[in-house]
Amino acid sequence: HSAAARETPRELTGGKRPRRPAREVEAQSEARTGHQPPPRPSRRHSHNDSEEDMFGDPDSFCGNSSLLAQVDDIEQKYLQDENKDIKAAGEIKNDNFSTKENMVVFEADKEEGFQMNENDPVDNNQELTVSILDDLPSSQLLYFEEMNELSSDSRLSSISEIRNKFVSSSSVKIRSPSSFCPDAEHRNRPTDFSSDSKCDLFKAESLKDHLKSAMTVNAKAQTLQVSKTKQLKEAVLSEEICVARKTIESPSADIGPFYGLPSKVKDLFRQFRGIETLYEWQHDCLMLDSLQQRRNLIYSLPTSGGKTLVAEIIILQELLCRHKNALMILPYVAIVQEKVRGLSSFGVELDFLVEEYAGSKGRFPPLKRRKKKSLYIATIEKGHALVNSLIETERIDDLGLVVVDELHMLGEGSRGATLEITLAKLLYTSKNTQIIGMSATLNNVGDLQKFLQAEYYTSNFRPVELKEYIKIRDTIYAVDSKTENGFTFSRLLNFKYSSNLEKADPDHIIALVTEVIPEYSCLIFCPTKKNCENVASMVCKYLKKLHREKEKQDLIQNLKNIGNGSICPVLKQTIPFGIAYHHSGLTNDERKSIEEAYSTGVLCLLACTATLAAGVNLPARRVILRAPYVANDFLKKSQYKQMIGRAGRAGIDSAGESILIVQEKDKHLVQNLVTSPLENCYSNLLMELTKGMQSLLLSLVGLKIAVTHEEVSSFMCSTLLGVQQQLLSNEKSLSEITEDGLANLVEKGLLKERTSAKDHDPKRTLTITLLGKATYKGAIDLAYCNLLYRELKKGLEGLVLESNLHLLYLATPYDMTLNCTPDWMIYLRQLNQLSAAEQKIMDIVGVPESFITKKASGQAIRKNVDSAVVNRLYLSFVLYALLKETNIWSVSEKFNMSRGYVQNLLNSAASFASCVLHFCEELEEFWVYKALLTELTKQLTYCVKTELIPLMEVAGVLEARAKQLYNAGYKTLAHLANANPETLVGTIKHLSRCQARQMVSSAKVKHSVLPIPQDLQKFQWYLL
Ligand SMILES: Nc1ncnc2c1ncn2[C@@H]1O[C@H](COP(=O)(O)OP(=O)(O)OP(=O)(O)O)[C@@H](O)[C@H]1O
Ligand SMILES: [Mg+2]
Repeated sequence: HSAAARETPRELTGGKRPRRPAREVEAQSEARTGHQPPPRPSRRHSHNDSEEDMFGDPDSFCGNSSLLAQVDDIEQKYLQDENKDIKAAGEIKNDNFSTKENMVVFEADKEEGFQMNENDPVDNNQELTVSILDDLPSSQLLYFEEMNELSSDSRLSSISEIRNKFVSSSSVKIRSPSSFCPDAEHRNRPTDFSSDSKCDLFKAESLKDHLKSAMTVNAKAQTLQVSKTKQLKEAVLSEEICVARKTIESPSADIGPFYGLPSKVKDLFRQFRGIETLYEWQHDCLMLDSLQQRRNLIYSLPTSGGKTLVAEIIILQELLCRHKNALMILPYVAIVQEKVRGLSSFGVELDFLVEEYAGSKGRFPPLKRRKKKSLYIATIEKGHALVNSLIETERIDDLGLVVVDELHMLGEGSRGATLEITLAKLLYTSKNTQIIGMSATLNNVGDLQKFLQAEYYTSNFRPVELKEYIKIRDTIYAVDSKTENGFTFSRLLNFKYSSNLEKADPDHIIALVTEVIPEYSCLIFCPTKKNCENVASMVCKYLKKLHREKEKQDLIQNLKNIGNGSICPVLKQTIPFGIAYHHSGLTNDERKSIEEAYSTGVLCLLACTATLAAGVNLPARRVILRAPYVANDFLKKSQYKQMIGRAGRAGIDSAGESILIVQEKDKHLVQNLVTSPLENCYSNLLMELTKGMQSLLLSLVGLKIAVTHEEVSSFMCSTLLGVQQQLLSNEKSLSEITEDGLANLVEKGLLKERTSAKDHDPKRTLTITLLGKATYKGAIDLAYCNLLYRELKKGLEGLVLESNLHLLYLATPYDMTLNCTPDWMIYLRQLNQLSAAEQKIMDIVGVPESFITKKASGQAIRKNVDSAVVNRLYLSFVLYALLKETNIWSVSEKFNMSRGYVQNLLNSAASFASCVLHFCEELEEFWVYKALLTELTKQLTYCVKTELIPLMEVAGVLEARAKQLYNAGYKTLAHLANANPETLVGTIKHLSRCQARQMVSSAKVKHSVLPIPQDLQKFQWYLL
């Protein structure tokens, strides 16, 4: 279920803008007239339905009943507002016009368009945003908002610039006016409809009327001129794409202007990334036969070698030339978010969608788009869920390309297992999906090639030289793997330390740091979180406060705002010196703020854990490794390479160096580290049994990918484990292990076996049981599904409902209990505060009070008590306090836990609560939990005062905004759904018009439809 972490009801809409023409018209008319229509009591189609239908079947526009229902809505609305609005607009005098007359309106507008633009640039620009925003995911909406803000000062000039560009471009074929309307074809070919039935005739009539009214609304709204500009832009682009596609499709022809892509792509890389030319290896790689022929490919280059650019070009080829969707899998949420930000602008310019699948974002299965192609950018877990959802809905062939960054992650724990499962399913179910994998730290490429049926490209190129050093006492050695020792003398460290300083800083970190900061920036990787904070505090004591003080104060203020007025004392002390620490104990927002300040040079030194080690493009002239350890484990070669690889990033630094601080005792281990090859990448399907092998077997049957023993066996041979089966112990073969796994699932009651004897050939088929279905629908870790069942069953006999504590206990994620060490005094204090009824929970779950009392007083305990249960109850106390106090800071202080941990617990619990909910939904006996867990999921998801919860369900509304709205009188969804966006802008501070409109639309959707359980039901099990 950790895979489901941060999946919340809200994310189901993924912050997407609802696509509801009728509502849109309403919102626009409200905006113009200030008139608020009465709330619409019921709708024929839910938000989801209409979205699905709109995009569901691109070829049957006329036959789409859901669309027609919306058309009716528009008609009705239009009839109501018609006279008033037409008069107000003063443009259209004859409401009974024919299609031909309609065209005249377009023609007329075309003539006057640009003039009107210049007369009223502000309005037009707003409308441009609205018309383009229709189809965009939230990431791109954000880009638009930024663009909008940036351009607000120079709107007039930019619009006329665009106009000039297109007017003067002689090679551009301007589309005929009819083609401005996407449905022109239907209009111009009435015979298309005449041959059909009465019903179709009616639909066609209705559609015609819809077009009429839609065009009238367009004409009134003065959007046309700018829309035309957009259409012209599109025309140029689509022409280029068309040429490019032809070139790429014909094998003999020369490749297109820019690797088969429009030359605009090259301009965009220059404009957005400052990349003028490709490195030689990038060119060679893109020209490989394997890529030309769409074969799978693995490529490997040193850190900062520029691997991403090659992947991005291949992705663009897929989206623009081959017209298929693409998926990019990245290791962490923060990296996904960074990539989404980086590629959204490309999406806007090149007309594809960038959809985020990380943290609280992502929709399963993804929306079908009528025209645009999508680039899904996902974490490993979400990428897996996405692939599952596409397999289940038989849409996997729409996915033309999957790119996996940091492919070496295949060898890393349960995430490695999940990545392997995803890729194996892809390889097995979709022969046409191309797979590209890249990494800086691969060793046993042969195995990976075999697994992915891929070719291989490698080079040693690194644009910025990285010099590796180690420091022992006061001597710096250069790493030289060719020598016997692994390093050679370089220099003595030049420093003058007082005896006090020598004591405080025996490893000479200050000397190493001050050689580079403040002119350049520096990262120090530390083995533990506490060590990060200590290093940051220690270094700042010996530095002077330097420039950019105002920006540093702003950063402190920003962190205070994030912490509701509190700031970590260490950060408060270190930031004025340009120093901070960075680790998972900080909340996500704190981390983001600090990273940003470091990237812009406000901070010049970060003491961090391995959280910043992979894929991040933060500037560092020098990377220092405080010790060759991550927590208590000695560094692995790949970890070492990734960490030092952060130094000297191309485009940011012109040089880079790393220094590993080594104690005399570790010298030999370090010699080994620098001279040995990178670690091999091994399958984790068996190591991670329940999240790996067993979960794979269950979902193979659940998804009907493989339902007989033979099919399952053949699937298993195509995994990385299958490739590496010679590494299995001699005791059991892969097929025996598979059979054992299936038998285990049957034994657990998750699978059933049926034998059918057809033609005297008995065939054993596997099916999934109710418990199995509940387990995968709820994405419950197979290690806990039986336990969860038992606990819920016990709850049916006596659930304490005086408060939500007992329910919280049931929704506390099992896997978080493993690393939890309760503070017994705090535990006891919490117990003492429980009411008599709440104390019964202790008996029910099996935590004797005497056990806690003895623990707190340090007495010996003879009784055998299950520590997992004790820990789980402790964590449910934390959650209980969080829901009461709604303040991560105060709760983390109360329980003496880091706020990052508390935030993580809360997110995991929100996610697990919805997992348990879906588990219960599949099992009739647990009907009573549905209502309870639905409510609890919401409480955990939003963790705000109960009265704010409805407002938090609106896309884009966070706690602060919900408070503002509540205080301004918008206390319910109904209030917000009926609000006038213009009035909202006037009442709510720092709210843009665009945000206000989105909020109102989203509130309308939430207000009228979307029962959460159903919606959640759809996606949870894709995570298995
Ligand atoms: N042709 C190029 N010209 C100039 N800069 C480039 C070029 N290609 C890539 N870069 C820049 O090089 C930097 C590093 O590239 P990238 O992030 O792709 O490295 P990487 O190979 O993925 O490294 P890592 O393995 O550490 O993730 C980026 O800032 C990128 O913009
Ligand atoms: Mg990279």
